[in-house]
Amino acid sequence: MTRSTICWLLGSGIVALATFAACRYDPVPQDLIDGLGEEPGEPSELHRAGQPCLACHSVYEGAEPRMSVGGTIYYEASDGRILPAPEVLVEVTDSRQVTRKACTNAAGNFWVEHEDWRDVSFPLTVRAGERRMISIVGRDGSCASCHSLPDEASLDPVTGAGRASAGVVVVSESDVGAICVPSGGTTSSSTTSTTSSTSSSGGGAGGEGGVGGGTSSTTSSSSSAGGGSGGGGGA
Ligand code: HEC
Ligand code: HEC
Repeated sequence: MTRSTICWLLGSGIVALATFAACRYDPVPQDLIDGLGEEPGEPSELHRAGQPCLACHSVYEGAEPRMSVGGTIYYEASDGRILPAPEVLVEVTDSRQVTRKACTNAAGNFWVEHEDWRDVSFPLTVRAGERRMISIVGRDGSCASCHSLPDEASLDPVTGAGRASAGVVVVSESDVGAICVPSGGTTSSSTTSTTSSTSSSGGGAGGEGGVGGGTSSTTSSSSSAGGGSGGGGGA
């Protein structure tokens, strides 16, 4: 089937969401992506903190690596500032009780590659550091789809109060900077204890300056680029 046929089918409402990707001009994701602004420098694992990673790291936009889950974690420093939270363990469990663990990098970013979690089954339960999200994630792997940074449109011009968002994910200062060991590409929670060896071979987990952010050995080559800048909590 050609791309134009698929797009025609999509236009006539026959084809399911999965074929969105074939139609590069789909207005819904495209508007979202356009609204995120230009890349300020080279894309890297530290980029676009607070943004919905899967808008681009998806079949639709095709940014590599494709992700199943991704987001940014912050913490509140003692002086009240909201800062990126490195080395926080994020645990995501799907409806089949399969769990993936990932560590945040120096930008507070974390992700699980699609390659490591192809059959993720929504809804998801989520934990970051010691904070558990009470509600579940129904269908969107981007934390920032709900946990977004405030922008002018979401702030009340008079009171400065934000609307339409759960706010960014904020963990406690004590959750930050511990040695974080992601689970990599394991298949279930029962095997996570055996996976630290895989992840450490990736070089992203723990260690000095190795903030990483990779959730598997496949991300480790890029994680060294971000290494060294985190770990201290930034405050
Ligand atoms: C507006 C689109 C967009 C958003 C949003 C976005 N990215 Fe990216 N990202 C890219 C592009 C483009 C690249 C370059 C790779 C490519 O072109 O396939 C990239 C590259 C990366 C890489 C690979 C870097 C390397 O050195 O190989 C990582 C890791 C990454 N992004 C993480 C994230 C995370 C985590 C988020 C969310 C917090 C995010 N990105 C949000 C577009 C985006
Ligand atoms: C569908 C919208 C939605 C998505 C997507 C979402 N969240 Fe949430 N999250 C919420 C809402 C609403 C709350 C506040 C109420 C609650 O805890 O359920 C929350 C609360 C939390 C909390 C608890 C914060 C606290 O102060 O105790 C954490 C941690 C969290 N989310 C992490 C995440 C992470 C990590 C992701 C991405 C993997 C994510 N969330 C994706 C809506 C969402």
